[in-house]
Amino acid sequence: MNNIKDKVAYITGGSKGIGYGIAKSLLDNGMRVAVTSRTMSAAKKAAASLSKDPSRVLAIESNVSSLAAEIKALKTAIDHFGQLDVLVANAGVGHFSAIDTLSEEDWKETIDTNLTGVFNSVKASIDALKKSKGYIITIASLAGINFFETAAAYNASKFGLVGFSQAIMLDLRKYGIKVTTIMPGSVATHFNNHIPNDADGWKIQPEDIGQMVLDLLHMNPRTLPSKIEVRPAIPVK
Ligand SMILES: NC(=O)c1ccc[n+]([C@@H]2O[C@H](COP(=O)([O-])OP(=O)(O)OC[C@H]3O[C@@H](n4cnc5c(N)ncnc54)[C@H](OP(=O)(O)O)[C@@H]3O)[C@@H](O)[C@H]2O)c1
Repeated sequence: MNNIKDKVAYITGGSKGIGYGIAKSLLDNGMRVAVTSRTMSAAKKAAASLSKDPSRVLAIESNVSSLAAEIKALKTAIDHFGQLDVLVANAGVGHFSAIDTLSEEDWKETIDTNLTGVFNSVKASIDALKKSKGYIITIASLAGINFFETAAAYNASKFGLVGFSQAIMLDLRKYGIKVTTIMPGSVATHFNNHIPNDADGWKIQPEDIGQMVLDLLHMNPRTLPSKIEVRPAIPVK
């Protein structure tokens, strides 16, 4: 993608955290963005703080766990902007509990959001991305290659997402669609009910992931970094 000016990105889970940080970076660099949330009020609040110009930013309510909702949401974005160039499949949740106490509800929400949710967003955007020879960026995690106690549901969703992302990268590059999965370590966000605070300075910041997305979009069309691990440079003491 040589010139990103006015290109259109659809960002799932753009109401806060990493998705919001990516939306801000793309807008600041001339792109137009749709940000989604499970609630219209959160999507609208984020959109209003990103830009006052409705021709640059659009708020959409959609729960990624529903394919029908994602199809409707992508249609809304494409009808509004007239095109789709980038899907950032970012929406995700974290439920952490050892397997003997992990509830079926938390298991299902984790898999339905973090794994099936990405499938749904990709399926809903594929025709438009074939037209634009666009880009899919999935936000996985270092928990997609490293397992740990209490993370059965989260590890399963992110290991699955890394495999899914790599397989669709092979399926889609023949259409000129690039797929990259970014696998962050600790990022200062609201993830798992965290409240970002002054002690988070050692963590990756959402705008750092935004910069990484910009770098990917600016990369020479012949080159594709398909899987990126990113971690805090200096771990917390
Ligand atoms: N923070 C980290 O350290 C870290 C590290 C590695 C990977 N990640 C991944 O980064 C992604 C973003 O997380 P974050 O850290 O930015 O967390 P966050 O601050 O809690 O933001 C999560 C975003 O996802 C949205 N979301 C959650 N479930 C959704 C659903 N079913 N449908 C649509 N949107 C949904 C939320 O929107 P609403 O609440 O407004 O609906 C919110 O915008 C996740 O996939 C997470 O696994 C995070």
